[in-house]
Amino acid sequence: MAGHLTPIPMASQSVGPLKGTAIIPGDKSVSHRSLILGALSVGETKISGLLLGQDVLDTAKAMSAFGAKVTDHGEGNFSVNGVGVGGFSEPVDVIDCGNAGTGVRLIMGAMSTSPINATFTGDASLRSRPMDRITDPLELFGAKSYGRTNGFLPLTMVGARDAHAIRYISPHPSAQIKSAILLAGLNALGETTLIEPEKTRDHTERMLSGFGADIETVEIKDGFAITLQGRPELTAQDIVVPRDPSSAAFPVCAALIVEGSEIFLPNICLNPTRSGLFTTLVEMGADIEFENNRLEGGEPVADLRVKSSCLNGIEVPPNRAPSMIDEYPILSVVAAFAKGKTIMRGIKELRVKECDRIDAMARGLETMGVTVEEGEDYLIVHGQNGEVEGGGTAQTHLDHRIAMSFLCLGLASKKSIKVDDGHAIATSFPIFKSLMTDLGASITG
Ligand code: S3P
Repeated sequence: MAGHLTPIPMASQSVGPLKGTAIIPGDKSVSHRSLILGALSVGETKISGLLLGQDVLDTAKAMSAFGAKVTDHGEGNFSVNGVGVGGFSEPVDVIDCGNAGTGVRLIMGAMSTSPINATFTGDASLRSRPMDRITDPLELFGAKSYGRTNGFLPLTMVGARDAHAIRYISPHPSAQIKSAILLAGLNALGETTLIEPEKTRDHTERMLSGFGADIETVEIKDGFAITLQGRPELTAQDIVVPRDPSSAAFPVCAALIVEGSEIFLPNICLNPTRSGLFTTLVEMGADIEFENNRLEGGEPVADLRVKSSCLNGIEVPPNRAPSMIDEYPILSVVAAFAKGKTIMRGIKELRVKECDRIDAMARGLETMGVTVEEGEDYLIVHGQNGEVEGGGTAQTHLDHRIAMSFLCLGLASKKSIKVDDGHAIATSFPIFKSLMTDLGASITG
């Protein structure tokens, strides 16, 4: 994935209501973690429902390069024969994580406290994302990193010998920072504590506990303190990956804005650290029913029934941002069809995602005839009360969520829309086009 890929121009247009059942692929965050924790365990971890997105496949390849035996049994069923905590061997080639910030950051954490070296790279998007937010704390364990100016990839990580546990206050609300440190802490002597200012997605904590680590989260004055005892023996697990709420967001939002739609999405992960979008949509007036609420594999899940709705703009509470951080692009699209302004503040982390998502959404929405206001950490979308002009071409900057967001906009705008390049969609939601088409959407490219 590090090389240049030929762009795939795509287009969408309004052809009528979306109807039917959407079977959403496995969650990307849980898929990465299943492979990495499987590789760090003793025994055979069996994974079903793994996301077959390129990001996750790159992580699977990386785990093989570090010595685990990863076997693809077809249809999202994988097994991982782990090497145990501290058992990684040195890769003989560069680790290419493609487009995946989660992949590269978690893997750097996981190898940084073993006495091996590894060089990481990725595609043009990943090579322009900050890595110092990960390498700075990993250096406190004794690891060293040598990257380009500002710590950009390609980067070589020299793992620490005899790493000692650290206590670290994360300057950003980021599950990737938290997870990199916890994975590093696995092979460090003593108790590693990570303090996060706001609660971010907690799959790493849940899964580490499931694999047998001693880990505890305590709410403190300045956020949440997560403490992990170093050098546990992790035991292989059977994992059923829940369905990705961040992917479900696209058909859900498309159904809300395309008149006459009614769709059903079974088994969607509704972990409270991930479900902020659904809370926001309901506050805007969305008709979403959450049926059959239950726990599956340690994660809350429900079946969603969604009907097209007249929506009102709202102010999204900034403290909700970590629980819907990947959903602001598609929320901005929904906001364009709502009545009144939708105000999204406290979202500066969006500037360091696969692209600068505040800028990409603002420019793209303007191209589609929508008025926006933008600042360093906010985006305000002026809703058009159901009447979005469309007709433009959105620049996607190698960002899957920008591409899918605008393709959803085109399903309800007056004129068809184009995106310059949809190839990144395969990183997280390879069946996006066919799933949407099966619901009745017109998406080409
Ligand atoms: C992820 C964490 C988030 C999110 C990303 C997946 C994870 O990134 O945007 O898509 O799986 O830990 P940050 O931790 O940088 O907010």
